[in-house]
Order: sequence, then C-alpha cells, then structure tokens
Amino acid sequence: MAPLLVGGALALSALVAVADDFQGATHLMPFDEETINYSKQKDTGPIAQLQAKIDRGELKMNYGEKFGYLSSLLEALEVSTNSQMLVFSKTSFQRERIAPRTPRAVFFNDDVYIGFVQGSPLLEISSVDPKLGGVFYTLEQTKTDKPRFVRTDQCLECHASAKTMGVPGHLVRSFATDENGVVDMTTGTSLVNHRTPIEERWGGWFVTGDAGKQPHRGNLFGKSAFARHEKEPGFLGNQTDLKKFFDVSEYLSGNSDIVALMVMEHQSHMHNFLTRLNYESTIALQQYGHTRYLKNIVEAFVRYLLFVEEAPFASPIRGNSGFAAEFAKLGPRDEKGRSLRDFDLHTRLFKYPCSYLIYTDAFDQLPAKLKERIYDRLLEVLSGEDTSAAYAKLSPESRTAIREILGATKKDLPSNWRD
Ligand code: HEC
Repeated sequence: MAPLLVGGALALSALVAVADDFQGATHLMPFDEETINYSKQKDTGPIAQLQAKIDRGELKMNYGEKFGYLSSLLEALEVSTNSQMLVFSKTSFQRERIAPRTPRAVFFNDDVYIGFVQGSPLLEISSVDPKLGGVFYTLEQTKTDKPRFVRTDQCLECHASAKTMGVPGHLVRSFATDENGVVDMTTGTSLVNHRTPIEERWGGWFVTGDAGKQPHRGNLFGKSAFARHEKEPGFLGNQTDLKKFFDVSEYLSGNSDIVALMVMEHQSHMHNFLTRLNYESTIALQQYGHTRYLKNIVEAFVRYLLFVEEAPFASPIRGNSGFAAEFAKLGPRDEKGRSLRDFDLHTRLFKYPCSYLIYTDAFDQLPAKLKERIYDRLLEVLSGEDTSAAYAKLSPESRTAIREILGATKKDLPSNWRD
C-alpha cells in the first residue's frame, strides 16, 4: 500500500483546484491517511455480510466440480447468470490464463462484480462498500465447510489509479488486441463509461446481441480482423453465438450481453464517482466543516447521474441473454408503473435517464450535507428552473417523469421536493 500514499499538500490541492470537467481530475486521493483509512477500516458491504452469514451457519455454499463456488456465489449474492460478460484482453490480474480461447467471465449486480477465470485457483470479487468504495476479495476454489473471502488490497495496484477516478474502484477498458489477447496500448481507451462513443467500445471483449448498423470493436482480435473491420465496419459486430471463437460449455452462459455491458459501463464509473464524492466530502467536512469547495464535482456528478453526456446510439440495441428483462423487473416503480430501470435502447440506454444507483447504500450513505447539495441541484434541473446548456438534452417531459418517479420511490428526499 505504501506507494499509494499521497502527501497532504497534494490532497489539499485536490480539494481546491477541481477541474471543470471532473472526469479529467483523477489524481489519487489520500485514502490511506487518517480520515478515510481505507486498509484499516472494516468493510461492511455485501461480501462482509455474506461472510457473516456463512460464519453463523445460516448459509451453506455449494462447491461444484466444474465451476467451484461460482454458481453458489452468484445465487447467494443474487447476481444473475445472464449478466455474464466475457473479456479476452490480457488486461487484468490473471492475464496469463486469459485469451480469446479462454476469456474471463465477469458477472455483476448493483453492488458486486465477480470474475471467473478458467482453471484458476480463485474467484475474484470487487464490491461496493458504502463507506470504503471498491473493496476487493479473492475466494479460493477448494471445497471446504466455511469458505473464506480474503480481502486483498494488492488489487489496488491496478484498481486505484487515474483510471478509477483516483479511488479504489472499478475498471473498464477497450483496446485492440492480437490473436492471443495481448493489447496494443496505442489503440484504445482506458476508461469506458456511458460517455464513450460506442464505436470505441468493447475492444478486448466478446459482445452478443444486436447493435444494428452501429460499428464497435467487440469480437475482434488479430491484425486481419481489424483490417477487415476497417473496410467493413459491421464485421463480427452482431453475434448471437460465440461457439466459433471458443468452447462455450466451459462457461455458465454462452453470452456476453450487449445490454449488460452497457449497464456495467454506466455503473462502474458511477460507483467510482460515488466513492470519490464520499472521500472528497468526508475530508472536506473534517477540514472545513462544509462542502462548498466541491461545487464542480457535484455538478459533474449530477450531469453523470442524469446521463446528459451519454454517447448517442446510431442504431437500436438489443441484448440476447435475458439480462435486460431481469434488470428492469427489479424496479422500484411508481403508481404509473414507471421505473428508472426501464430501458429505451433506441436512442439511449434508459427511458428515464437518471441512474438507478440513486437507490443504493453507496448513494444513501453519502455525507448528509453533500447529499443535500445533490438533491438541491437535481431539483433545480428536474423542475426546469435550471435552463443551462449543460442539461439542454434533457427534455421537459423527461425532467417531469424523473421527478415524479423519484418523488414516488425515493424515501429520503428533502421536504422541498414534496411541494
Ligand atoms: C494488472 C492489473 C490488475 C490487477 C492487479 C487486478 N485487476 Fe481486476 N481488473 C483489471 C482490469 C484491467 C479490469 C477490467 C476488465 C479487464 O480488462 O479484464 C479488471 C476488472 C476486475 C473486475 C470486474 C469489475 C471491476 O471491479 O472492474 C473484478 C471483479 C476484478 N477486476 C477483481 C480483481 C481482484 C479481486 C483483484 C486482486 C486479487 C484484481 N482484480 C487485481 C486489472 C487488474
């Protein structure tokens, strides 16, 4: 952890000199100093809770011959098999085991991500802890009575950098690779989120479903595939079966659903943003007793929350794993049946563009003073009082619908929302 420490002077400048476009200001936060104390703080998130259940004997995990604890873990954490996404670039921790013939599978829900690598002695887990942000664990793939999740801060070597907004967090990248999944660092983007143009996405990933005429870099590896993609932008773009690339029977699902990928890309950056806001405001409150210096970050956050800089779709998008239907079903819904989880998928990801992560513990447990500022800004935008160019993309109908949905489903709204 030592190399990650950042001096106090730098930390202070981080609070004062926040760039206009916060997405660019991603220097490492001093998260191992006193105020946040990341590595010494106890985790309380989904994995800590699951471990407690196992330890109390309330939950038994089943070990399967082929996938070890994977199925049981997904079930215990209520993560759908249909959320599976497959990445073949050698970009992560177990790179030597990962290739186009043996991609790594990643599954997720609102607060946990699980990585499965064929033949690996362990499962990789990243989780969203409402206080700490991204917390990382491994689970050994050997049969025992009481499996133990091991919190592993070494993962921060990659999972805490400018690419995760300078906090312990989640990574999504897109690079061209050769036949073996080795990346060409000159040809891609190391921070993918809902703002990333779709034609730049999914280098190093398999993609299933339908992207229509929309070109992207999924399912491509090796020079000749990229050369053909240059001439024929739709090449390998729309796949519903990955059998021709690798043995799909080695996986829980044969898919790497395009909608799951897009949701995860929105969400992973949102998680990092929430952690950054949480750290920034916790430190600011301790140092100054207020969060007024955080105006620009709050503004950037509200823009991200409301998808106002989302990359436009050139074609409608359709998944093929059933992920979208399951995801939308989770709600909550207002009395007209509307939910922030309802998809659009024609011109944008969601029908009512305000992130569903507003319902999670990571949002709810932000320091109260900061949450107040976010709610104030949100109300200004959604009520139409804010007419600035930054939110021009958000139609009056969308603003009203989102305000009504939140009014009916979000418990802790301040009283000015009720008027
Ligand atoms: C060498 C750099 C590196 C290290 C070390 C690393 N990761 Fe990652 N990890 C990545 C990259 C890059 C991604 C994005 C997906 C990809 O490219 O494979 C990722 C993605 C993930 C994901 C998917 C969701 C997310 O949080 O981004 C999980 C889960 C994960 N890693 C767990 C771990 C765990 C647990 C450890 C430590 C045991 C770890 N990683 C160590 C590079 C790394």
